[in-house]
Order: sequence, then structure tokens, then C-alpha cells
Amino acid sequence: MQFWKYSTKVLATLLAVVSVSQAGGPADGDAVADPNSAVVKLTSDNFASFLEENPLVLTEFFAPWCGYCKMLGPEFSKAADSLNESHPKIKLAQVDCTQDEELCMEFGIRGYPTLKIIRDGDSKQAEDYQGPREASGIAEHMIKQSLPAVQIPETWEDLEKLIEEQTKPFVLQVNSATDDIFQKVANVKRKDFSFINVGKDFIKQLGTKLNKDLKKASYLVVHPKQLADAIGFDGKKADVESLTKWIDVETLPYFGEMDRDTYMSYMTSPLPLAYYFYKTAEQREAVADDLAKLGKQYRGKINIVGLDANLYGRHAEAINMDPEVVPLFAIQLIEDNKKYGINQKEYPEGPSVKVIEKFVKDYFDGKLKPIVKSEELPTAEEIAANPVVKLVGHNYNDILNNSEKDIFVKYYAPWCGHCKKLAPTWEELAEIFGSNKGETGVIIADIDHTANDVDVPFEIQGYPTLLLFPANGEIDEKTGLRKPVVFEGQRELDSLIDFVKENGALKVDGTELQAKLKEAREAAEEAAGDAKDEVEEAAEKVEHDEL
Ligand SMILES: *[C@@H]1O[C@H](CO)[C@@H](O)[C@H](O)[C@H]1NC(C)=O
Ligand SMILES: *[C@@H]1O[C@H](CO)[C@@H](O)[C@H](O)[C@H]1NC(C)=O
Repeated sequence: MQFWKYSTKVLATLLAVVSVSQAGGPADGDAVADPNSAVVKLTSDNFASFLEENPLVLTEFFAPWCGYCKMLGPEFSKAADSLNESHPKIKLAQVDCTQDEELCMEFGIRGYPTLKIIRDGDSKQAEDYQGPREASGIAEHMIKQSLPAVQIPETWEDLEKLIEEQTKPFVLQVNSATDDIFQKVANVKRKDFSFINVGKDFIKQLGTKLNKDLKKASYLVVHPKQLADAIGFDGKKADVESLTKWIDVETLPYFGEMDRDTYMSYMTSPLPLAYYFYKTAEQREAVADDLAKLGKQYRGKINIVGLDANLYGRHAEAINMDPEVVPLFAIQLIEDNKKYGINQKEYPEGPSVKVIEKFVKDYFDGKLKPIVKSEELPTAEEIAANPVVKLVGHNYNDILNNSEKDIFVKYYAPWCGHCKKLAPTWEELAEIFGSNKGETGVIIADIDHTANDVDVPFEIQGYPTLLLFPANGEIDEKTGLRKPVVFEGQRELDSLIDFVKENGALKVDGTELQAKLKEAREAAEEAAGDAKDEVEEAAEKVEHDEL
């Protein structure tokens, strides 16, 4: 659960950056396709009949005023013209939703533009178009859609040519039996990859082209121009799910690019993710081949991606790196949210490939320490002056793992109003338990959760969150910390005191301590009062003396 939450959060930051930069970009095209182009204008009158007559139609539902539609319009026209020449059976069409509201409502259109692929007039089975949005990409995507999901070349020459033509990783079926699993996976993933059935007669011939003996494999993933290094998958173990998963991992490029389109496949992969942030195409180019080699060497263990810091710089902050010092290289394991980065002070111009290679090796040898985002440790004076124990990234595990004490932690954010309101009460609570003097076995602590990157064995959904870690409590396996009890009552002094007594392992009664504190304070006040009287008397005397 946490993983998904995390990844959608990252996606949100990625998308936010992208949409802002696009909204700021040019959108001076016309949303309505060029009337001289091959784009067909559809209305409720001709819609059904047109679709019935055409086996494959990409339909754009749009509004003339929408910015993204204006960007798409000219590209859509160009794609339609190019298809009209090369693949005249594939049609591109437009529905203006400001003119044909009803039609758009029927399709449940909620945003513009929405693109749908409709086959053989079967509107019910319309698929959302998720391909590129520039002319050649659109055309290419639609050509792929027009092919059968699994291609079956008739001759060895056709097969060789088909393999040679591929510009993206693709999947070969090399067991001779017709295979339902392959067909099913191909139907779903046809938009991403080519699926090719290697006929029975060609399997031997194909085998001679491979570096390894892959006789046991039923399926191969091949990267473009790298047939010899095909990767095999044992068909005996295959079902739709396992084959899909395997394809998802093996088809990722050795050094890929993380952007809106590829984001999800990287984030859902269970492997650690290594990022190379760059600011210019030259920077990326300079390392691309070497990082691809590295990616190949570590295939199945780590994914390595490039990330354009101009668009996604903010993501560097999320992995505790400085987005201004680029190129940078960092590794993140999504699962446990640990981050490792090459020291940016040491390599202000970016690390060399050699340094990166060593870093990745050290990562797998367990030699790296994760980067912990942390405020400065409090000084001795600060500790003495503040009854609330201040937790930061660097002392968090040490203090929280002090298993002889009941530790009550307030996780807060500096901007949160409820946190500010609670602050004096929290301080009073700490005062009552003599929290910073270590007398009562109860520690009252707090941590700015936005400035310190720490594990919490609980899913924090808002601030403040108050968690009590009972002394000698049971250990949470994932974080290695004790399992906390959540405070969910009214955030008032009495209820907080009761909560510590009821849920702490030491059962310390704060009410008694509170009474003692009150007495002590009164005594102190009296003493202070006496002292003041004396001072005043002395002052009077001085005044008199002066007279
Ligand atoms: C589509 O192609 C056909 C055949 O080449 C041509 O006659 C027609 O003018 C083209 N349509 C458009 C709109 O370009
Ligand atoms: C906390 O202490 C327990 C028991 O001594 C240990 O197993 C665990 O690794 C420690 N966790 C951390 C985060 O230091």
C-alpha cells in the first residue's frame, strides 16, 4: 500500500512539472484538422455508418478552444495524410464535442482531447489510444494496431527482415505449438511491443544465430539489433501473468529514459532504480553507451534510467539529492524507500562512468550507506533547554530504539496549524514527565517529518500524528522499530497523560507527576517572590542611602 501511495506521489510531481511546461509552450495550431487533410469529420449523422465501413478508426473527440487539441490538430492532419498514402484502410476522424454533445456524452468523454481506437464499428469495445501525439508516432502506432497481434512470417527471409526492422524490444515465440498464452499477452500488449511467432521450420535456423543455448525457452525477448543476446523464458512455467511480468522487465532498455510514458513500468518494477539526471543532450549522450553496457551487465538486478533535470529536477529532491548539481547519479529502492547517491560535493561536474560503475558495484556489495535527509543534531544547550526531545534523521533510530523507555512522538509539519496549536500542550507534557532529564522512563519527542527522512511503522496520513512506542515493545519487521500505538483522542493534556499511562509499558502516572510539578512550581514562585522582596527591600535601602 505504502509503495503505491509513494509512487503516485512521485507521479504527481512528475506530471505537475510536465503539464506546467506544456501549458507554457506554444499551442498556436488549429484544433480542427485541416479540411484538405485526410481527417474525416464525423457527426451523429455519419458516425455509425462510417465506423461500420472502416475496420480501424482512430477518433479524436475535441473542443476547438482546448490548448492540447490545438497542439494535436496539425499533427493529427499530417498523420492522417501519411496513412492515407501508405495504409489507406486506417482512418483518422474527429468529433467536435461543442457541436455534437450527445455523441461525446455517449462515449463518456470527460476531457479534451480524448482519442479512441474503434475496430469494425464496435463502439462498445473502443480502446483508449495511449500512443504518441506527434504525426509519425501516431501513424506508426496505428499501423501496429492494424497488424494481427501476433505476426507469423512465412519464410526465413521474411522473419529475418522483420527482426532486422524492429526499433524497440520485441517478443518471439519459439515453441512450435500454437499457444493461447502468447496470443492473450500479445492482444493486451500489442500497443507496446511486436509479437512474432517463429514458425516450426525456422527454430533451428534461429538457434544458430543465438549466443547461448536457449533450447528450453519458449519465448525470447530481443533488443533491437541484438538477436544474438536474446533472453529466454522457460515455457513450462508460463502463464499469462508470469509471461507478462517477464516481458515487462526484459523489454526495458538497458539504459532507458524515465518520462511520463515509461514512469509506471519503472515504478512498478520490484528492482532498484538508478537515475542519471542530466541537463543537456550532450551530457546524456556522453554516458549512454557505457550506461547501457552497465545496465546489461546488471539486467534483472537494477534498472538504469536517464532523467531530464530540466523537466523533472524536483524528483532529485525527493531522493535527497541537490537538483542544481547535475549530472548526478543516485539509486533508489522504492520498496523500502532507501536512497543512495554519489557525493555531489566531490563531483560537482558529475561523476565519470568509472565512478558510477564502482558505485553500482558497491551498492550490490552492501558497502553503501543510504542518504538520510536530516536536520542538524541538537546541541547540548538545546537539549538542556528543551523538555521535548528533538528527533532528527541522524538520531531517530538510536533514540527510538531505546527499548527501556516509553517514547511518545509527535510527527509534524512546519506549515500545519493543528501542530502549532498543540505545541504548548506537548511542551507541558514533556515538562511533566521530565522528558529530557530521563528520570521517569517516558520520553516526549517530536520530529519535523518534512525535514527528516525517517521510517515510520505506521502510515501517516496527516499532521500531527502522535505515536507511542512502548518500552520493550514488539519489533516491526519492515522498519526494525517497535510497533507504535496511535493516539486518536482529543489533543488535550489530560487525555494525553491518560494515554501514556494506559498504553505505555511502564504505566507511568502523569497525574501524580503533574501535581508534583505544580507544587514545585509554586515553591519556586514563592522563592522567587521572596527573592524579589529582598531585592526590592535592598533597592529601597539603596534609595534611602542615597537620600
Ligand atoms: C488519399 O489518397 C487517395 C489515393 O492516393 C487520394 O486520391 C486522395 O486525394 C487522398 N486524400 C487526401 C485527403 O489526401
Ligand atoms: C532496533 O533494535 C532491535 C532489537 O535490538 C534491532 O533488531 C533492530 O534492528 C533495531 N532497529 C533499528 C532501526 O535500529
